[in-house]
Amino acid sequence: MMLSRIRGTGSAVPAKILTNSDIVKIVDTSDDWIITRTGIRERRVAVEGEYTSTFATIAAEKALQMAGIGPEEIDLIVVATVTPDFPFPATACLVQNNLKAVNAAAFDIAAACSGFLYGLSVVDKFIKSGGAKKALVIGAEVLSRIVDWSDRNSCVLFGDGAGAVVITAEGGESGILSTHIHSDGTYWELLHQPGCGNRNPASHKVLDERLVFLKMQGNEVFKLAVRAMEDAAHEALSANNLKASDIDFFIPHQANRRIIDAIGKRLGLLDSQLVINLERYGNTSSASIPIALDEINRNQSMKEGDIVLLDAFGGGLTWASTLIRW
Ligand code: COA
Repeated sequence: MMLSRIRGTGSAVPAKILTNSDIVKIVDTSDDWIITRTGIRERRVAVEGEYTSTFATIAAEKALQMAGIGPEEIDLIVVATVTPDFPFPATACLVQNNLKAVNAAAFDIAAACSGFLYGLSVVDKFIKSGGAKKALVIGAEVLSRIVDWSDRNSCVLFGDGAGAVVITAEGGESGILSTHIHSDGTYWELLHQPGCGNRNPASHKVLDERLVFLKMQGNEVFKLAVRAMEDAAHEALSANNLKASDIDFFIPHQANRRIIDAIGKRLGLLDSQLVINLERYGNTSSASIPIALDEINRNQSMKEGDIVLLDAFGGGLTWASTLIRW
């Protein structure tokens, strides 16, 4: 059976840095509170003229370059995002156009912070069924445009950026060994954007009531995130007859340092197994895992055969895992 092999990774973030000290000028908070409660020191934010498709395209170009694959060879593009350039067409189609990936089918996936792993799961099934041979999976967000910059509970957490992987169908023993995806819609209200869909279409009322912005019940989300991500990691390990100590790199969704530390502790992971970069980017939702993956791939931390576990949680609620033999 063909396996989905990651042959290239890429990432792109805005040049503009927003530090905790910058945020102190916007809402009633402090550098100390943000670092202690979240681990975040700074995040990147898009400026005028930069969109989700901008970062998605640059990340994809870098991944293609690393893979040595031309855009016309790509037969599938999946973009995971909850901050698309437009409600439609799909951001994936805009990326296809930018790349001139003329032979690809392109669509978006909305699974919030689990979106990239949902994308990997879908594309892995295309690869295994013979429906695609060379694919791009991209997680990309410009969350700074749906964050309520008057809400200190949420605005300190998020950042913008994109990460991409090129996946090729290959024989052999390296590649994606398992994907698992889960959802529980009973919790949809804990993390959502009330406005701009057809329940609350554009109106003065929607603007006045700030319904265009993300709403989050942070405490509830926190507790559910720890449990769901721990379960997802156990599920991936047991499906592959592996133990936590077999993991070379555990790349969790980068939402909050305390969430990651709690999961690491519950799984019995060493600090050396954990990949953490949220102090520099904040929570970039679907982009967080592919950005972290690209960073450790480019600094040559990973070697062939390493076990890499990706673990995500997000609005929906959604949660997911992907286990890779590199
Ligand atoms: N600066 C200073 N004080 C803040 C603050 C900020 N940026 N944000 C919240 N507070 C205050 C609250 O108002 C509250 O004050 P009160 O007790 O007077 O009401 C106090 O800090 C404690 O709030 P609480 O919500 O209990 O803090 P917390 O330790 O749970 O941390 C989050 C808040 C948001 C950092 C945390 O709940 C979290 O990270 N949740 C998960 C969010 C997430 O990851 N979402 C995306 C999932 S993909």
